[in-house]
Amino acid sequence: MFNGMKTTAMCQRTAAMAAGLLVGLGGAAYSVAADAPSIGDLQVKYRQAMYTVMAGNFAPLGAMAAGKAPFDAKEAQKRADRVAFVSNMLNEGFPPGSDKGKGTRAKPEIWTNRAEFDRLMQDLQKQTAALAAAAKTGDEAKFKPAAAAAGKACKTCHDKFKTED
Ligand code: HEC
Repeated sequence: MFNGMKTTAMCQRTAAMAAGLLVGLGGAAYSVAADAPSIGDLQVKYRQAMYTVMAGNFAPLGAMAAGKAPFDAKEAQKRADRVAFVSNMLNEGFPPGSDKGKGTRAKPEIWTNRAEFDRLMQDLQKQTAALAAAAKTGDEAKFKPAAAAAGKACKTCHDKFKTED
């Protein structure tokens, strides 16, 4: 199932199809559970998982950018490539109807002010692509401002569209 899920996730481009994936997952994993999670719950889990992977790879970059960890060009490139990759999957994370779901901290404005949300998502994708390119040069002086700009893209969207933890 893992391989299938990976292939599916890479091929699927639209939010509607991502929802289909989650229905499939829900059916396979939870069909016998009496307290089966709703589709909305699964969609929330899916996007939170993507953010968790993204943050797990962004943290070492942030530490290097802040001088809390020594700059390691190879490590920076590996992490930045992952962050850029996941940021391009996030378009699938907010399908219509996923505004409600267990444990979500997504604000309802995402679905009522979609153009602005999409703009901030595109900005993240642009900044993380630039970060990956900067990391690839192996030049710490190029890496640091690019990491700061990507971090700012996270914060801008959280301030507007995510409730406090
Ligand atoms: C375009 C908007 C947007 C951008 C850009 C963005 N986030 Fe988020 N992030 C959200 C929203 C909305 C949630 C809440 C999702 C939910 O709970 O349903 C979230 C949740 C999270 C979470 C919590 C996941 C969980 O398990 O609950 C982490 C960690 C996170 N983001 C990290 C990041 C990092 C790191 C970046 C930048 C590299 C980033 N985000 C960029 C909108 C954004």
